[in-house]
Amino acid sequence: MNAIPTDLEGEIVRLKKARNAVLLAHFYQESEIQDLADFVEDSLGLARKAQATQADVIVFAGVHFMAETAKILNPSKKVVIPDLEAGCSLADSCPPEAFSRFKAQHPDHLVISYINCTAAIKAMSDIICTSSNAEKIVAQLPRDQPIIFAPDKNLGAYLVKKLNRPMLLWNGTCIVHEIFSEKKIVQLKVQHPQAKVIAHPECEARVLQHADFIGSTSKLLQFVQQDPAPEFIVVTEAGILHQMSKQSPEKKLIPAPPDGNCACNECPHMKRNTLEKLYLCLRDLQPEITMPEEQRLAALKPMLRMFEMTDGNSFSPRPSPTTKP
Ligand code: 13P
Ligand code: SF4
Repeated sequence: MNAIPTDLEGEIVRLKKARNAVLLAHFYQESEIQDLADFVEDSLGLARKAQATQADVIVFAGVHFMAETAKILNPSKKVVIPDLEAGCSLADSCPPEAFSRFKAQHPDHLVISYINCTAAIKAMSDIICTSSNAEKIVAQLPRDQPIIFAPDKNLGAYLVKKLNRPMLLWNGTCIVHEIFSEKKIVQLKVQHPQAKVIAHPECEARVLQHADFIGSTSKLLQFVQQDPAPEFIVVTEAGILHQMSKQSPEKKLIPAPPDGNCACNECPHMKRNTLEKLYLCLRDLQPEITMPEEQRLAALKPMLRMFEMTDGNSFSPRPSPTTKP
């Protein structure tokens, strides 16, 4: 009953069908998980797929906040994750009680939270964003609107600089993106003069200053496909290289190294999910993601606002003085 089959891949495919499950995987998952997934996308793409799916079960091969987001968006589905402990340093860096006190100190501020946060933080936010749409969302807000941006101070600082508007930043970071070695990236640039440096905006400013292109995982993938350069130094979690090399086999991809001795940089949370845990999760339909309905509804509101603002509908944070309710 509890034996692990030798043909894990075959069993996962069989169970996916038997359970009428959709397998959603983030680009940072192990390559064998990506290859079994129905959709491999960035945070925004996965949220959209979770919202739209007709499947009975959503198996989320990603981290906890992503699976939680799927439940917020599609509550009638059973949402399971291979490892419940697959967390995120950004989500951990923003405890709800401390954030609630911070928010109360700035009552005139609009709260924009990066999707890499817990449902409790989403529930306290006005708008959610991902790295794919953050710039578009912040740019739509009136310039005199004070904003709290949480929890990623690096993405926040990138937006402040790019859009030339101040925001109050929560002091959170991604443990993966903050440890890239600037020195080693500069050395790689010298060794590979034809290479373009592409980086995720969760990286620190001292690393981003060397980038030819900055974007979310999906935008980095697209850039490699469309740009004529033959080589790319990729400054994000190394899992993305799997799809990059599948889509652009003729390009040379060089993972940027972190400080220390490792050649590439992996997210320990994302990598908690394994084929074996994925099999068990499909077999037993657990661990399951649940949350109080009141919290889900509060977290849903800023998520829906994100979709509206991403898809071109404007958002007015304050009622205009001339508008009747
Ligand atoms: P995106 O996939 O939205 O670029 O986010 C990267 C990330 O760190 C997910 O945890
Ligand atoms: Fe969180 Fe960073 Fe891992 Fe993404 S890569 S899940 S932001 S710790």
